[in-house]
Amino acid sequence: MRRDFLTTADLRSGELESAIQAALRFKSGADQSNPLAAKSVALVFFNPSLRTRASMQVGIYELGGNAVVLEPGGTSWTLEHREGAVMDSDKTEHLAEFVRVLGRYCVAIGVRTFAALKNWEEERTDPILSAFAKYSVVPIINLESAMHHPCQAMADMMTIREKLGAGRKKVLLTWAWHPKPLPMAVPNSFALAAAQMGHELVIAQPAGYELDDELMQSIKEKSAEAGGSITFSNDVDVAFDSVEVVYAKSWGSKNFYGEPEKDIAERAQYRDKWIVDEVKMARTNSGIFMHCLPVRRNVIVTDGVIDSRNSVVIDEAENRLHVQKAILQALIH
Ligand code: CP
Repeated sequence: MRRDFLTTADLRSGELESAIQAALRFKSGADQSNPLAAKSVALVFFNPSLRTRASMQVGIYELGGNAVVLEPGGTSWTLEHREGAVMDSDKTEHLAEFVRVLGRYCVAIGVRTFAALKNWEEERTDPILSAFAKYSVVPIINLESAMHHPCQAMADMMTIREKLGAGRKKVLLTWAWHPKPLPMAVPNSFALAAAQMGHELVIAQPAGYELDDELMQSIKEKSAEAGGSITFSNDVDVAFDSVEVVYAKSWGSKNFYGEPEKDIAERAQYRDKWIVDEVKMARTNSGIFMHCLPVRRNVIVTDGVIDSRNSVVIDEAENRLHVQKAILQALIH
Protein backbone atom coordinates (compact mmCIF):
# COMPACT_ATOMS: atom_id res chain seq x y z
CA MET A 1 0.00 0.00 0.00
CA ARG A 2 1.22 3.53 -0.88
CA ARG A 3 2.51 5.60 2.05
CA ASP A 4 2.87 9.36 2.01
CA PHE A 5 5.01 11.56 4.25
CA LEU A 6 2.90 14.67 4.72
CA THR A 7 3.52 15.26 8.44
CA THR A 8 5.63 13.49 11.05
CA ALA A 9 2.34 12.09 12.39
CA ASP A 10 2.39 9.81 9.32
CA LEU A 11 5.14 7.88 11.11
CA ARG A 12 3.75 5.30 13.49
CA SER A 13 5.03 4.92 17.02
CA GLY A 14 8.70 3.94 16.89
CA GLU A 15 9.11 4.78 13.19
CA LEU A 16 10.32 8.29 13.95
CA GLU A 17 13.07 6.81 16.11
CA SER A 18 13.84 4.20 13.43
CA ALA A 19 14.15 6.94 10.81
CA ILE A 20 16.60 8.85 13.00
CA GLN A 21 18.66 5.69 13.49
CA ALA A 22 18.62 5.03 9.73
CA ALA A 23 19.70 8.63 9.09
CA LEU A 24 22.59 8.23 11.54
CA ARG A 25 23.68 5.09 9.63
CA PHE A 26 23.67 7.04 6.36
CA LYS A 27 25.65 9.85 8.00
CA SER A 28 28.29 7.51 9.42
CA GLY A 29 28.66 5.65 6.11
CA ALA A 30 27.46 2.39 7.65
CA ASP A 31 24.58 2.30 5.13
CA GLN A 32 25.64 2.73 1.52
CA SER A 33 22.67 0.98 -0.06
CA ASN A 34 21.10 2.12 -3.33
CA PRO A 35 17.35 1.57 -2.96
CA LEU A 36 16.65 4.07 -5.76
CA ALA A 37 18.88 2.37 -8.39
CA ALA A 38 17.34 2.95 -11.84
CA LYS A 39 14.45 4.88 -10.27
CA SER A 40 13.42 8.54 -10.56
CA VAL A 41 11.84 10.88 -8.00
CA ALA A 42 10.03 14.08 -9.03
CA LEU A 43 10.65 17.22 -6.97
CA VAL A 44 8.01 19.90 -7.57
CA PHE A 45 8.89 23.38 -6.33
CA PHE A 46 6.23 26.09 -6.34
CA ASN A 47 8.56 28.20 -4.13
CA PRO A 48 12.29 28.93 -3.75
CA SER A 49 14.66 26.65 -1.84
CA LEU A 50 18.33 26.06 -1.12
CA ARG A 51 18.52 23.28 1.47
CA THR A 52 15.47 21.25 0.50
CA ARG A 53 16.21 21.22 -3.19
CA ALA A 54 19.96 20.57 -2.91
CA SER A 55 19.67 17.94 -0.17
CA MET A 56 16.88 16.07 -1.98
CA GLN A 57 18.78 16.07 -5.28
CA VAL A 58 22.01 14.94 -3.63
CA GLY A 59 20.21 12.36 -1.48
CA ILE A 60 18.39 10.80 -4.44
CA TYR A 61 21.71 10.62 -6.33
CA GLU A 62 23.45 9.01 -3.36
CA LEU A 63 20.67 6.39 -3.17
CA GLY A 64 21.35 5.50 -6.82
CA GLY A 65 18.39 7.40 -8.28
CA ASN A 66 17.59 10.35 -10.53
CA ALA A 67 15.84 13.58 -9.49
CA VAL A 68 13.43 15.32 -11.88
CA VAL A 69 13.05 18.92 -10.70
CA LEU A 70 9.96 20.83 -11.87
CA GLU A 71 9.00 24.45 -11.20
CA PRO A 72 5.33 25.07 -12.05
CA GLY A 73 4.89 28.49 -13.59
CA GLY A 74 8.64 28.66 -14.25
CA THR A 75 10.11 25.87 -16.32
CA SER A 76 6.93 23.76 -16.22
CA TRP A 77 3.26 24.62 -16.83
CA THR A 78 1.19 26.65 -14.39
CA LEU A 79 -1.05 24.33 -12.34
CA GLU A 80 -4.67 24.37 -11.20
CA HIS A 81 -5.58 22.32 -8.13
CA ARG A 82 -9.27 23.17 -7.54
CA GLU A 83 -11.80 20.50 -8.41
CA GLY A 84 -14.31 21.57 -11.03
CA ALA A 85 -12.33 24.70 -11.97
CA VAL A 86 -13.17 26.30 -15.31
CA MET A 87 -9.61 26.82 -16.51
CA ASP A 88 -10.15 29.94 -18.61
CA SER A 89 -7.57 32.08 -16.76
CA ASP A 90 -3.79 31.70 -16.31
CA LYS A 91 -3.54 28.01 -15.30
CA THR A 92 -2.50 25.64 -18.11
CA GLU A 93 -2.63 22.15 -16.59
CA HIS A 94 -4.65 20.52 -13.80
CA LEU A 95 -3.00 18.54 -11.01
CA ALA A 96 -5.28 15.63 -11.94
CA GLU A 97 -3.17 15.08 -15.07
CA PHE A 98 0.17 16.46 -13.81
CA VAL A 99 0.35 14.12 -10.81
CA ARG A 100 -0.83 10.98 -12.63
CA VAL A 101 1.57 11.57 -15.55
CA LEU A 102 4.50 11.98 -13.15
CA GLY A 103 3.43 8.74 -11.46
CA ARG A 104 4.12 6.92 -14.74
CA TYR A 105 7.75 8.09 -14.70
CA CYS A 106 8.65 8.41 -11.03
CA VAL A 107 8.42 6.26 -7.90
CA ALA A 108 7.65 9.22 -5.61
CA ILE A 109 6.80 12.91 -5.83
CA GLY A 110 8.15 15.58 -3.46
CA VAL A 111 6.30 18.88 -3.38
CA ARG A 112 6.97 22.32 -1.91
CA THR A 113 3.99 24.65 -1.74
CA PHE A 114 4.08 27.46 0.81
CA ALA A 115 1.16 29.23 2.42
CA ALA A 116 0.17 32.33 0.46
CA LEU A 117 -0.91 33.94 3.78
CA LYS A 118 -4.16 35.12 2.20
CA ASN A 119 -6.94 32.90 3.56
CA TRP A 120 -6.34 31.16 6.89
CA GLU A 121 -9.37 28.85 6.87
CA GLU A 122 -8.50 27.57 3.40
CA GLU A 123 -4.72 27.38 3.75
CA ARG A 124 -4.80 25.58 7.10
CA THR A 125 -6.26 22.59 5.17
CA ASP A 126 -3.18 22.39 2.91
CA PRO A 127 -5.27 22.30 -0.30
CA ILE A 128 -2.47 21.93 -2.87
CA LEU A 129 -0.60 19.22 -0.96
CA SER A 130 -3.90 17.42 -0.38
CA ALA A 131 -4.63 17.49 -4.10
CA PHE A 132 -1.26 15.87 -4.83
CA ALA A 133 -2.08 13.13 -2.30
CA LYS A 134 -5.56 12.70 -3.76
CA TYR A 135 -4.45 12.13 -7.36
CA SER A 136 -1.19 10.26 -6.81
CA VAL A 137 -0.56 6.53 -7.00
CA VAL A 138 3.05 6.97 -5.80
CA PRO A 139 4.18 8.29 -2.38
CA ILE A 140 3.97 12.05 -1.84
CA ILE A 141 6.70 13.66 0.27
CA ASN A 142 5.95 17.07 1.79
CA LEU A 143 8.92 19.38 1.15
CA GLU A 144 7.11 22.18 3.05
CA SER A 145 3.47 23.00 2.68
CA ALA A 146 1.26 25.70 4.17
CA MET A 147 1.06 23.81 7.46
CA HIS A 148 3.95 21.35 7.72
CA HIS A 149 7.66 20.87 7.02
CA PRO A 150 8.19 17.30 8.24
CA CYS A 151 11.60 16.75 6.63
CA GLN A 152 12.91 19.79 8.50
CA ALA A 153 11.40 18.56 11.77
CA MET A 154 13.01 15.13 11.33
CA ALA A 155 16.40 16.78 10.78
CA ASP A 156 15.76 18.90 13.87
CA MET A 157 15.00 15.83 16.02
CA MET A 158 18.07 14.05 14.64
CA THR A 159 20.23 17.08 15.48
CA ILE A 160 18.94 17.23 19.06
CA ARG A 161 19.70 13.50 19.39
CA GLU A 162 23.21 13.93 18.02
CA LYS A 163 24.09 16.94 20.15
CA LEU A 164 22.39 16.05 23.43
CA GLY A 165 21.88 12.28 23.34
CA ALA A 166 18.72 10.24 23.88
CA GLY A 167 15.97 11.07 26.34
CA ARG A 168 13.66 13.96 27.16
CA LYS A 169 15.11 17.44 26.68
CA LYS A 170 13.84 20.85 27.68
CA VAL A 171 13.20 22.51 24.33
CA LEU A 172 12.11 26.08 23.59
CA LEU A 173 10.31 27.03 20.37
CA THR A 174 10.41 30.82 20.29
CA TRP A 175 8.75 33.26 17.90
CA ALA A 176 11.06 36.01 16.67
CA TRP A 177 10.43 39.37 15.08
CA HIS A 178 10.77 39.55 11.28
CA PRO A 179 9.81 42.46 9.03
CA LYS A 180 6.97 40.53 7.39
CA PRO A 181 4.66 37.62 8.22
CA LEU A 182 5.95 34.14 7.33
CA PRO A 183 4.23 30.72 7.11
CA MET A 184 3.76 28.47 10.15
CA ALA A 185 4.92 25.18 8.65
CA VAL A 186 8.26 25.04 10.47
CA PRO A 187 6.99 25.83 14.00
CA ASN A 188 4.00 23.51 13.50
CA SER A 189 6.20 20.59 12.49
CA PHE A 190 8.86 21.28 15.09
CA ALA A 191 6.25 21.34 17.87
CA LEU A 192 4.58 18.18 16.56
CA ALA A 193 7.83 16.22 16.24
CA ALA A 194 9.12 17.41 19.62
CA ALA A 195 5.84 16.24 21.15
CA GLN A 196 6.12 12.86 19.42
CA MET A 197 9.65 12.51 20.82
CA GLY A 198 8.37 13.19 24.34
CA HIS A 199 10.37 16.37 24.87
CA GLU A 200 9.54 18.99 27.48
CA LEU A 201 8.40 21.70 25.06
CA VAL A 202 8.01 25.40 25.84
CA ILE A 203 6.33 27.52 23.14
CA ALA A 204 6.91 31.26 23.47
CA GLN A 205 5.12 33.81 21.30
CA PRO A 206 3.47 37.20 21.73
CA ALA A 207 -0.29 37.14 22.33
CA GLY A 208 -2.06 36.84 18.98
CA TYR A 209 0.63 34.66 17.41
CA GLU A 210 -0.67 31.31 18.69
CA LEU A 211 -0.39 28.27 16.42
CA ASP A 212 -3.47 26.49 15.01
CA ASP A 213 -5.89 25.34 17.75
CA GLU A 214 -6.78 21.99 16.17
CA LEU A 215 -3.16 21.13 15.45
CA MET A 216 -2.20 22.16 18.98
CA GLN A 217 -4.79 19.75 20.37
CA SER A 218 -3.21 16.96 18.35
CA ILE A 219 0.27 18.03 19.52
CA LYS A 220 -0.87 17.89 23.15
CA GLU A 221 -2.23 14.39 22.63
CA LYS A 222 1.03 13.21 21.02
CA SER A 223 3.00 14.76 23.86
CA ALA A 224 0.88 13.02 26.51
CA GLU A 225 1.23 9.67 24.69
CA ALA A 226 5.03 10.07 24.59
CA GLY A 227 5.33 11.20 28.22
CA GLY A 228 6.32 14.77 27.35
CA SER A 229 4.88 18.15 28.32
CA ILE A 230 3.92 21.45 26.70
CA THR A 231 3.85 24.87 28.33
CA PHE A 232 3.19 28.29 26.80
CA SER A 233 4.73 31.67 27.53
CA ASN A 234 4.32 35.25 26.37
CA ASP A 235 7.51 36.21 28.24
CA VAL A 236 10.46 35.96 25.87
CA ASP A 237 13.01 36.25 28.70
CA VAL A 238 11.62 33.78 31.24
CA ALA A 239 10.94 31.27 28.45
CA PHE A 240 14.70 30.79 28.01
CA ASP A 241 15.28 29.75 31.61
CA SER A 242 17.16 26.43 31.84
CA VAL A 243 16.24 25.16 28.37
CA GLU A 244 18.69 22.87 26.54
CA VAL A 245 17.52 23.77 23.03
CA VAL A 246 16.50 27.16 21.61
CA TYR A 247 14.62 26.84 18.32
CA ALA A 248 13.88 30.25 16.79
CA LYS A 249 11.37 30.96 14.03
CA SER A 250 9.15 33.82 12.98
CA TRP A 251 5.62 33.25 11.75
CA GLY A 252 2.54 35.25 10.82
CA SER A 253 -0.56 35.67 12.94
CA LYS A 254 -3.56 33.66 11.73
CA ASN A 255 -5.64 36.72 12.67
CA PHE A 256 -4.07 38.72 9.83
CA TYR A 257 -4.01 36.34 6.85
CA GLY A 258 -4.90 38.51 3.85
CA GLU A 259 -3.99 41.69 5.75
CA PRO A 260 -0.17 41.71 5.95
CA GLU A 261 -0.01 45.42 6.71
CA LYS A 262 -1.97 44.82 9.94
CA ASP A 263 0.39 42.04 10.99
CA ILE A 264 3.40 44.26 10.24
CA ALA A 265 1.90 47.06 12.36
CA GLU A 266 1.08 44.66 15.20
CA ARG A 267 4.52 43.06 15.31
CA ALA A 268 6.41 46.36 15.25
CA GLN A 269 6.23 46.53 19.07
CA TYR A 270 8.21 43.27 19.31
CA ARG A 271 11.25 44.40 17.32
CA ASP A 272 14.50 44.27 19.36
CA LYS A 273 12.69 42.36 22.14
CA TRP A 274 11.84 39.09 20.37
CA ILE A 275 15.36 38.36 19.09
CA VAL A 276 17.66 35.57 20.21
CA ASP A 277 20.67 37.29 21.73
CA GLU A 278 23.54 36.54 24.11
CA VAL A 279 21.63 37.81 27.17
CA LYS A 280 18.74 35.40 26.60
CA MET A 281 21.05 32.49 25.74
CA ALA A 282 22.84 33.06 29.08
CA ARG A 283 19.58 32.10 30.85
CA THR A 284 19.62 28.63 29.22
CA ASN A 285 21.24 25.43 30.41
CA SER A 286 24.12 25.77 27.91
CA GLY A 287 21.41 25.61 25.27
CA ILE A 288 22.13 24.87 21.64
CA PHE A 289 20.79 27.35 19.07
CA MET A 290 18.73 25.98 16.17
CA HIS A 291 17.05 27.52 13.14
CA CYS A 292 15.86 25.91 9.90
CA LEU A 293 17.54 28.60 7.73
CA PRO A 294 17.46 30.87 5.84
CA VAL A 295 17.73 33.30 8.74
CA ARG A 296 18.02 37.07 8.89
CA ARG A 297 21.08 37.88 11.02
CA ASN A 298 20.66 40.51 13.73
CA VAL A 299 16.88 40.35 13.20
CA ILE A 300 15.98 36.81 14.31
CA VAL A 301 19.33 36.06 15.98
CA THR A 302 22.45 38.08 16.71
CA ASP A 303 25.76 37.34 15.02
CA GLY A 304 27.13 36.54 18.47
CA VAL A 305 24.66 33.67 18.94
CA ILE A 306 24.60 32.19 15.46
CA ASP A 307 28.41 32.28 15.28
CA SER A 308 28.84 30.84 18.78
CA ARG A 309 29.98 27.32 19.67
CA ASN A 310 26.41 26.53 20.72
CA SER A 311 24.98 27.22 17.27
CA VAL A 312 24.22 23.99 15.38
CA VAL A 313 22.47 25.44 12.33
CA ILE A 314 24.94 24.05 9.78
CA ASP A 315 24.82 20.53 11.23
CA GLU A 316 21.04 20.85 11.29
CA ALA A 317 21.04 21.72 7.58
CA GLU A 318 23.41 18.81 6.83
CA ASN A 319 21.05 16.43 8.60
CA ARG A 320 18.32 17.23 6.08
CA LEU A 321 20.33 15.11 3.63
CA HIS A 322 20.67 12.08 5.88
CA VAL A 323 17.15 12.06 7.24
CA GLN A 324 15.56 12.49 3.80
CA LYS A 325 17.57 9.50 2.56
CA ALA A 326 16.09 7.52 5.45
CA ILE A 327 12.57 8.68 4.54
CA LEU A 328 13.03 7.82 0.86
CA GLN A 329 14.39 4.40 1.81
CA ALA A 330 11.36 3.74 4.04
CA LEU A 331 8.75 4.86 1.49
CA ILE A 332 10.14 3.38 -1.72
CA HIS A 333 10.51 -0.36 -2.20
N1 CP B 1 15.03 24.95 5.78
C1 CP B 1 14.64 24.92 4.50
O1 CP B 1 13.66 24.24 4.13
O2 CP B 1 15.45 25.59 3.66
P1 CP B 1 15.11 25.97 2.15
O3 CP B 1 13.89 26.84 2.17
O4 CP B 1 16.34 26.68 1.61
O5 CP B 1 14.83 24.70 1.41
